[in-house]
Amino acid sequence: MDTGQIKQMFIRKFGESAIGPSVFHAPGRVNLIGEHIDYNGGYVLPAALEFGTTLVIREREDGLIRLASTNMPEEAEIKLGEIGLNKSGQWTDYPVGVMVELAERGFPVSKGYDLFYHGEIPNGAGLSSSASIEVVTGYGLLAMGGYDRDTVQIALLSQAAENNFVGVNCGIMDQFAVANGKKDHAILLMCDTLEYKHVPFQTGSYKLVIGNTNKRRGLVDSKYNERREQCAAALERLRSCKADLSYLAELTPSQFEDFKSALTDETVRNRAQHVIEENARVLASVEALTANDLEEFGRLMNLSHDSLRDLYEVSCDELDVMVEEARKIPGTLGARMTGAGFGGCTVSLVHEDDVERFVREVGENYRARTGLTGDFYVCGVGEGVE
Ligand code: GLA
Repeated sequence: MDTGQIKQMFIRKFGESAIGPSVFHAPGRVNLIGEHIDYNGGYVLPAALEFGTTLVIREREDGLIRLASTNMPEEAEIKLGEIGLNKSGQWTDYPVGVMVELAERGFPVSKGYDLFYHGEIPNGAGLSSSASIEVVTGYGLLAMGGYDRDTVQIALLSQAAENNFVGVNCGIMDQFAVANGKKDHAILLMCDTLEYKHVPFQTGSYKLVIGNTNKRRGLVDSKYNERREQCAAALERLRSCKADLSYLAELTPSQFEDFKSALTDETVRNRAQHVIEENARVLASVEALTANDLEEFGRLMNLSHDSLRDLYEVSCDELDVMVEEARKIPGTLGARMTGAGFGGCTVSLVHEDDVERFVREVGENYRARTGLTGDFYVCGVGEGVE
């Protein structure tokens, strides 16, 4: 759907008015490598997608905030003085949470608005549809209020909305990628300091293929929190070897070799090993991409998946089957799960001549082995919020 069509739907929903509506857009994101690293203070390498969430906003005279969407049935109507007093348990909690955080930071929503969302990201697939809604709301409302739009601050307040209002204990990666993406570039983000740089993502005749397992991500929140607790436990124990350790990802793999006997619980040790080695793989990936060594990058993607499956244990049968099938295609350089895990999507780097075959064969074999139908998106890297 193009912007003109979304505006028409907006007018059908909210009616004509002398004031023209404004349009904003935030992408989804795919994490290329660096999984379950953001809350461990290390490096991640996500990229913005070419599809995302479009937001049409128009001011209202009567101090009401109204929220509606083209692709989700729930709507909300909130009086200016009552923002954040109630949670609905629906998608509208994301924008409301952002309004609460804006007010906390001295940018209260002080006028009524109609807000109309059009989402192109499959919900719950691990491509950050919620971060996209949050970031586009923060950016759009700041713009409408005549405020500056600092995209790092917008990422932070969007994460805070998710942590505090929605109640999901996520790290900073998703909101940061959505807010600060750049076309044809990945973002190397240091999650402790939020220093970042855009790394050219030029894959020549290779394409990124995202595979949606369409497996519902059951238990993802409780398992996610459990992983965070296990990492905190590992950190606590490792402080007996290195008192000034602030985050797990500060350790190099060779330091970990020296200290790992302090982690007597095998599960906790495995979690820590994943984090420390995955962090090193992110830096190695940046070197490989900079040197245009896509084969090496693909190899690191494969290692990342295997570690998420065996050490961090956040994969699931559906993700493993899709990755296995992806790796059977000769033009696949690497394939891994992306995002929190327990369902959601895979990401593969595939030679353009083999993409059709990939979609057909991985799709057929995935269906035969799991009974589920996967969806595939061949996609480039898009811009951040605008
Ligand atoms: C989810 C969270 C992120 C990050 C990833 C795992 O997407 O929202 O903060 O922790 O999982 O890398």
